[in-house]
Amino acid sequence: MTIQVFENEEQVALAGAALIAAELLQDPYTVLGLPTGSTPIGIYRELIRMFENGVISFAEASAFNLDEYIGLDPDHEQSYNYFLHENFINHVNFRAENVRLVQGLAVNANEECEQYEQDITDAGGIDLQLLGIGRNGHIGFNEPAAWFEKTTHVVDLAADTIAANSRFFANEDEVPRQAISMGIGTIMDAEKIVLAATGSSKAEAIRAMCKGRIDPACPASILQIHPNVTILLDPAAAALI
Ligand code: GLP
Repeated sequence: MTIQVFENEEQVALAGAALIAAELLQDPYTVLGLPTGSTPIGIYRELIRMFENGVISFAEASAFNLDEYIGLDPDHEQSYNYFLHENFINHVNFRAENVRLVQGLAVNANEECEQYEQDITDAGGIDLQLLGIGRNGHIGFNEPAAWFEKTTHVVDLAADTIAANSRFFANEDEVPRQAISMGIGTIMDAEKIVLAATGSSKAEAIRAMCKGRIDPACPASILQIHPNVTILLDPAAAALI
């Protein structure tokens, strides 16, 4: 686990974008795993800037998303499908057929999970998975639990996650109670992982992830045994390590 602490959020975003750009330059066919949340927005902004300046292209790259709420239409403003299109995909040159986002409105969520795993396998697996982290140590929507979920699955969201994500909805009652998430195994199968976190609300989760025991009570702690993971932090998120 390589941990890098930057001066501020802006520097974290530049570093995250630089790692993704380096991957794309080395392999234009890179398969990316994309997260939502406020943390990656700066990384996406910088990647869009590099694309507009002709530094990188996504013409041959593919994208999968990390997770999605169950029950939200992909056009719903708070759906992760909508978020990724608005904040990233619509502004660069992915081919539509190379973007596969897991669907929270699938008629049969469990079948969608199985199909999603198959589609990732068929694409040759994720080359670079970008991650944020929840205040309770969740990655994707893998909530603290008694075991690590292996593959893409349906999740009951934790109360803390519903509370944290209610800031994007009119009120807490509107936050979906379930989601589909890549599993811990899906994430760990990625060749490279880059996790970004900023702000003091993430400090405890970062401490547990980097210094705690590998324990499904802090799902991100499993990253300690991934062979190629880079953690990008600002000083507030790094305060307890
Ligand atoms: C959500 C997402 C996660 C994300 C987390 C943190 O719950 N499912 O993938 O990492 O929020 O989001 P933020 O970056 O807004 O703090």
